[in-house]
Amino acid sequence: MSSKLVAQVESLRSKLRRYSYEYYVLDQPTVSDKEYDKLFNELLDLEKNHPELQDPHSPTQQVGSVVLSKFSKVRHRIPMLGLQNIYNTEELGEMFDRWTDALGKAPVVTLEPKFDGLAVELIYENGKLEKAATRGDGDTGEDVTANVRTIRSVPLVLLPGHPPLLEVRGEILLMKEDFFKLNEERVRAGEAPFANPRNAAAGSIRQLDSRVASQRKLALFSHSAGAIEGWTPKSQQDLMAHFSKWGLKVNPLLKAGESPAEIQGYYAELEAMRPKLPYEIDGIVIKIDSLSAQQELGFVARSPRWAVAYKYRAQEANTVLLDVTFQVGRTGTITPVAELAPVEIGGVTVKRAGLHNADQIAAIGLKIGDTVVVRRAGDVIPDVQSVVLAKRTGKEKKIVFPKKCPECKTPIVRTEGEAAHRCPNHQCPAQIAEGLKHFAAKRAMNIEGLGEKWIEQLMQHKLIHHFSDIYDLTPKALRQLERQGERSAEKLVQAIEKSKDSTLGRFIFALGIRFVGESTAKYLASYFGDIHALIKATKEELLEVEEVGEKVALEIQEYFANSENVKEVERLLKKGVQPKAAKRVAAGPFEGMTFVVTGTLPSLSRDEAKEFIETRGGKVASSVSKNTSYLVVGEDAGSKLAKAEKLGVARLSEAELKRLEKAAAAKNVLKEKLS
Ligand code: IVH
Repeated sequence: MSSKLVAQVESLRSKLRRYSYEYYVLDQPTVSDKEYDKLFNELLDLEKNHPELQDPHSPTQQVGSVVLSKFSKVRHRIPMLGLQNIYNTEELGEMFDRWTDALGKAPVVTLEPKFDGLAVELIYENGKLEKAATRGDGDTGEDVTANVRTIRSVPLVLLPGHPPLLEVRGEILLMKEDFFKLNEERVRAGEAPFANPRNAAAGSIRQLDSRVASQRKLALFSHSAGAIEGWTPKSQQDLMAHFSKWGLKVNPLLKAGESPAEIQGYYAELEAMRPKLPYEIDGIVIKIDSLSAQQELGFVARSPRWAVAYKYRAQEANTVLLDVTFQVGRTGTITPVAELAPVEIGGVTVKRAGLHNADQIAAIGLKIGDTVVVRRAGDVIPDVQSVVLAKRTGKEKKIVFPKKCPECKTPIVRTEGEAAHRCPNHQCPAQIAEGLKHFAAKRAMNIEGLGEKWIEQLMQHKLIHHFSDIYDLTPKALRQLERQGERSAEKLVQAIEKSKDSTLGRFIFALGIRFVGESTAKYLASYFGDIHALIKATKEELLEVEEVGEKVALEIQEYFANSENVKEVERLLKKGVQPKAAKRVAAGPFEGMTFVVTGTLPSLSRDEAKEFIETRGGKVASSVSKNTSYLVVGEDAGSKLAKAEKLGVARLSEAELKRLEKAAAAKNVLKEKLS
């Protein structure tokens, strides 16, 4: 075997490791996916042609393949302990006083999210991942190495500088978005859905076939250490900084604190962010930072005295299912809705909850009169999670799915392979109302004020049916409606008038073509530049467009194959709707600059800020990286701000953004004059 070949393989591996670290751990890729794939395939080829060069720690070995018959047991060198819980400011104050008394001074603490996932230990020997084990009973866990190896944020090989033995402890999390997708798939396949992302993560890690785990979007945040040989951290912050340096993923929301007030502030800040975080947390963890202070405090029973979990109020509650009603959506999908005995969950009274579809009702075996567990996951509508079977009395009633549309009485259909029941009548008043609501919505034609109440009244009075009818409304006609004053009628007509001046992307989105979301609509707009070009588009052309696959292309073609829909578009145009193609203004003042927007800005909404930047030639990205030119910051900015600070990305307020535009425009004029 030539040493040149060995060097080539090693160089490819180390490059791929670095890129994968930048992508999965730092969230800051420096090369394109294409470039990564190219190098990856090069390595794969070399390893295939030279089996003697294969290595279980090669980046090509992170895809999962081993099928086990059972998990073997692993005894932890140092037991994996639990944390004591506290729930309110009083308990926090008491805890802090106890620490202050014991240490003789107020401690510096580190604050971090309490991840609601699965605890694991990763054992690195000479920088190589040799074993991964679950927490188990704290003393003995299960060997889940094959599955943990497939998690892309877990390095198989550490970056240089690591000690010879390092046991990393952390939490495996399944992203919320993937949890919902996974459950939908399970229900469709006739399997019971997972109750929460933690169970789903645990289920994924306890798969005997590691190819299953490799397909789930799992992440691991490292938060503490087991045994370490050859190095001792000075503090929790020191440990985290070194973890990061060695290529391990550390949560970016980590912070230091010095007083109960600061801790309380962090607790509240994270609770506000909780609905928007891509993973579940159930509190914060407070740890004494200094290792010597930790050692001084020691342990009680099965938990350390130097750390505590400050938990959030439960997001789950039990209540009774009073009834199930059925709602018709814009595309005719019939969704069951749980009508509940009102119950408070996390400070909000919940009376209704989503049930997804008939399969899910069957999967959890739900009946009317059942006591159910309702869960509120952030700002999404609450969900019925499971049935408390122990509370069954025998008087519960079966849920009967309607055979006819509750609105228009057309027989309901269920397409083969789809979970949803649908009303096939496109003229169904419920579908029309939903379609009109969608058309007028903020992200679509943005007709301010034209919401559910107006639409229902206008439809009852037969003033609107088609989208284009909206543009015939006059203040006089509106004033005749009940409870609609002069001012609101006037305002609505103005808003309708204003909406005529829209963008092509919004217009396409507003039509409500199935599977054409906001982003796909934008791509279609910039590709075709004109609605008539889209109407005439061939399948081949449609497939050229970003985000458009077979399924979407088919829906678009079917939509415009219906002459009624084309006629409606023509009517809208005739009535003065003028959707402008969003030409990418390459030469705008923000040309070449990439912005990220975070927090609430004083006057521009998030969408308006985006539009402001894009129409001036700038790019808007969703996450901060070293390619970000500016972070536009509003109130209540979250983790993006911390990341920008870490990377040294410049910050702008909304006012500064506007000043920057003027300055950049002036500079461009100057450039033109000089050239
Ligand atoms: S440190 C001595 N930090 O909570 C315990 N644990 O009840 C040291 N957990 O199973 C653990 N988030 O896996 C630590 N930021 C965090 C955590 C965290 C979640 C889990 C941990 C353990 C449980 C303890």
